[in-house]
Order: sequence, then structure tokens, then C-alpha cells
Amino acid sequence: MIDQKIVEEIKARNPIEDVMAQYASLKRAGSNMICSCPFHSEKTPSCTVFLARQSFYCFGCGAGGDVISLVRRAEGLEYTEALEYLGRRVGIDVITSDSDAPRFDKRRFYEMNKAAARFFRDILFNDPAGAMGREYASRRGLSEEIIKHFGIGYAPDSFSALHPYLKNLGYTDEEMNAAFLVGISSKNGRPFDMFRKRLMFPIIDVSGNVIAFGGRIVDDSDARKYLNSSDTPVFRKRKNLYALRYAKNTCAEKMILCEGYMDVISLHAAGFENAVATLGTAITPDQARLMAKYTKKVVICYDSDAAGQAAAEKAIRLITETGTESSVLNVKGAKDPDEFIKKFGAPAFSKLIGESKSKFRFTLDGILAKYDVKDTDGKVRALSEICKMLAGVYSSAERDIYTREIAEELGVNPEAIEADTKKIMRRLERERKNKERDDALREVSGIGDRVNPEFVSNVYAANTEEQIIALLLLMQENRDLLIKNPEMLTKDDFVTDFGRKLFVAIMQRADGEFVESDLGAELNVDEMSRLEAMKMKRYNLSENGEKEFTELCAALRAEGRKKSVTDKELSASELAEYFLSINKK
Ligand code: GTP
Ligand code: MN
Repeated sequence: MIDQKIVEEIKARNPIEDVMAQYASLKRAGSNMICSCPFHSEKTPSCTVFLARQSFYCFGCGAGGDVISLVRRAEGLEYTEALEYLGRRVGIDVITSDSDAPRFDKRRFYEMNKAAARFFRDILFNDPAGAMGREYASRRGLSEEIIKHFGIGYAPDSFSALHPYLKNLGYTDEEMNAAFLVGISSKNGRPFDMFRKRLMFPIIDVSGNVIAFGGRIVDDSDARKYLNSSDTPVFRKRKNLYALRYAKNTCAEKMILCEGYMDVISLHAAGFENAVATLGTAITPDQARLMAKYTKKVVICYDSDAAGQAAAEKAIRLITETGTESSVLNVKGAKDPDEFIKKFGAPAFSKLIGESKSKFRFTLDGILAKYDVKDTDGKVRALSEICKMLAGVYSSAERDIYTREIAEELGVNPEAIEADTKKIMRRLERERKNKERDDALREVSGIGDRVNPEFVSNVYAANTEEQIIALLLLMQENRDLLIKNPEMLTKDDFVTDFGRKLFVAIMQRADGEFVESDLGAELNVDEMSRLEAMKMKRYNLSENGEKEFTELCAALRAEGRKKSVTDKELSASELAEYFLSINKK
């Protein structure tokens, strides 16, 4: 357990608005501040930072909590790690005992990965076992300078080279396995090197930690051209971007998004240091938001084949959802940016960036390529798709410009296009409203409730539980009341496991100095967000005192008993007692 005084000190010295400013740009709104939610994509801000309460809540996605919950969610940390992070931010040392330390020590993982990167690099530079690697690197035109810049290395063709090296440094098989550096044979239980005969690209986060590896086979001895680390205790492939550490310094205006490590490396070598790549998966919403944090515009530069162009469509959609501009570049005459640079050189690539198509032009060209617009029928069908696209354009000025451009190009009347577009927009607006209503309904009825799956089958009881929890959190007097009168409500009166767990966790801490943040030691970020939502509902009511609390406790007790009648067989005398008790009310 961490000393509660230190938790309070850390919170006091890390105002939530300062920490939130790392993830979103805040605007003043009365006594609070608002921002676009860092945890989901949105065009209009729905996340509120409550200054007096030092909490945040997003009315769009339900994320919420105090500054510790914010950091847990934003940085993907456990409770104690978040405290350490915030402590570091203001120069407070957090000493944690072993009991609630995470299973793996992240710092050891960073060190182990760094050691592995050093091992691969030394093989590539100095070792006879690195000959194939050196040959491949020079075939791919990688200079010594760029190899050093990216920390590239070579994993030799051996089942047991890295493993003994790391073992010698004191790392355990379990750690190496969890870091995706070593596999354990299912036949004989023996550890083996995961990466073999591969050019190794360390994946390094923005703080300079080696978090994972991508490995390129140097011949065709394996059908898997690339082997990439899967997720580990220090790596989420869906949340990181290759070379962002370098790109972040030069990408304020523009960032280039590619598909492959080799594309990024060639671009950086040619002076385009604002290039990044995804890590062996299609682009994710998290990666789109990460880019939006660093740049105003993303130039998508995928492979020229059909798969690359289809992937570009998805990238445009996700990037647009973050409110960031995007354009698409077509590497004409080459299969990918790496090949383009090698064939035509850096100036030609600069020129290509200048000619990159706007998101609108890219989509429009895609549609026009599908239909024969010289034919009336083809033209009608193309226009119907074009109007759908126009209906999705946010700004009316922009929509107007595009409408005229298309009308001119296809030789049709702009008013006709506009009328059709408006019709589609009205339909979309209706659909959006319906969806909003359905979502709201789903929420009040608790359908699809991940945090409390029992909510839906016990709506009344679960709702009562949530109000009780909120009142316990909000008012010291309610906690004191329960300490003095424990029979008023016990954990057995709770109907849902989630409600019971919260109740127990709160009451364990209610005696003495109650620090709500400390619940984070037991609850995950979604559960912490739910606490915030519960409090939000009660904040708006003026009465949150003893009287309301007592009534709610009585209601839950009665509800709990009703349920136990249906749940289990009662003896005759128990049944009689039960009926007497509810008739007395
Ligand atoms: P080179 O052939 O070395 O030029 O590769 P590239 O960088 O051009 O990569 P490519 O466009 O073929 O693929 C893009 C990215 O997809 C790579 O950087 C890898 O991250 C990933 N990738 C490619 N092939 C595989 C594979 O066989 N398995 C996995 N898991 N990922 C792959
Ligand atoms: Mn390539």
C-alpha cells in the first residue's frame, strides 16, 4: 500500500487541467474547462474537466475520474505506475511495496530489450554470424550511418544465441518469453530464439525505450517475410508508430504515413524525417489519434497496388475522424515509397508530395474509375455515390466548391447535385438521431454493460446500488452513518457482484482518512470511470444527505431480500419472516 498522504500530495501537485493539457487542448467554459476527448474521436468537444472537483468526465464515451485515472487511461498504466508517473512529473518518489507491484517490471523489460538490440547490432557489425545480414543490408542500400541511426541489427541463424546472452545478464526465461524474444518449445520445453536469420528493426517509443522488434527475413527460408513482436507488457502494436521518436520533431505541418519499416528508413535517409509507419497491422483509431497529436496533416503514402489503395481509404476515414487533414500520394512507377526513392530520387519524391491528392480528389477518382461516365447509366450511378460522399463533407463552403467542380467535370447541373446531397444529409441526420436515442435507451437499461454485466437483469437494484455508492463517495456523513450502524446495509444486501465489490472496497477505507483515489488500487480504469458517472448523476441533485441515503439503503435491502426468495429455498419460518418484513413497510 502507498501512503495516502503521498497520494494526496501527488494529486495536489498535479492539477488535472495541467495533465489533461498534455493530451488535449482545453478551453475555458464557465467554472470548468472543456476539450475534445483524448479517448475517442470526435469533432465537437464533449469532455469536461471539473476544476473544483479535480475530475474529468466525457459525456460521449463515459471515460472519467481523477488525475490518476486520466494518466492510467492515457498512458496505459496500472494504478501504482500512474502514481509513479505523476510523482516523477513533480519530483516525488513513490515507494511501493511488493504486494501490489505488477507481475513484470517494465524497467527491466526496457533494459532487456535494449540489451537485445545491442546484441543484434554487434552481430551485424562484427560477428562472422552476421555475414548474411551485412550482405542483405548492403543489397537493400542501407548505409552504415542509417543502420546506426535506426539501431538496426541482425539475428543470427541459430536457435540459441540471444537466449544465453540475456540469461547471462540475469533475465529469466519467463521475462524473455513475455517480451517475445524467446519462445518455449512445446515438444521439449526448451527455450529458443524467436528471431532467426532476420534483419532486426528495434521499435523505439518517443521516450527512447526499446519496446519491440520487427524482423525481416534475409532470404526466402520462411514464408513470413516479417516477424513482429506481438503485444508484450511494454508494447501495444496498435498504439505505437515506427520512427515517431524522430518524426515528432519535424512533423508539425505534415507527417508521412507509410506501410513498411523499409519505406520509413528510405524516406528518413533521403531527408524526409517526418515519415512514420504502422507496426505490421492496418492503421487503428489509436494510431490516428496519436498522429493528430503531433501534426496538422497526414500524407498517406501506401503501396501502389490495390491493397495499398484500399488501406489508404481506411486511413483517410480514421484520420478525418480525428479532425486532421489528410491527402494521398500515389508512388507512380514504383511499388512502394522505398522503391520510388531508389528509382527516382528525393527531389522527385518532394514533387510527388506537392501533387498529393486531397482526400476529396482521392475518393472521387476512386468512384470515377469504377463507372463508365460517358454512358448515361454509369454517370447516374457514379453521381449517386458522389452525392453520398458529398453528404459526408462537414463544411458547407467546402461542399459547395466540390459540387461545382463535379458538376463541371460531369456536365450536370450543380443544383441537381446539391438537391440530391441535401436529401441524403437529411436521411443521415435522421439516422444519427435514432442511433443517439437507441444508445441512450441502451444505456439506461444497461444492455451491453461491460463493467456491470448484471445490471441489465437487475435494473432497479443495480440502479439503487449505484446511487448508494455515489452517496458514500460524495459525503463523509454517509460513510460515518454506516460505520455507526453497520446493520443498515451489509455487503450481502448487494444484488450485483460489481456493486458489492465497490461497497466492500469503499467501506474498507472508510474508517479514518478516506482517499477515493486509492480505490484505483483495486479497480480498473473502466470501473473508475463508472464511479465518476455515478457521482455525476447525483451531483445534479441537491439532496445527497442522510435521509436520501437511509431510504436508498432500505430500498436495496428490500430488493435484496426479494431476490433471495427467488434465488434459494427458504425454510417456512424464514419465508414467514420475509413476508412480515415487507408487509410492515
Ligand atoms: P520489404 O519487402 O522488405 O521492402 O518490405 P516492406 O517494408 O516494403 O513491407 P511490405 O510493404 O511488404 O509490408 C509492410 C509491413 O507489413 C511490413 O513493414 C511489416 O510490418 C508488415 N508485414 C509484411 N509482411 C509481413 C508478414 O509476413 N508477417 C507480418 N506479421 N507482417 C508483415
Ligand atoms: Mn518494400
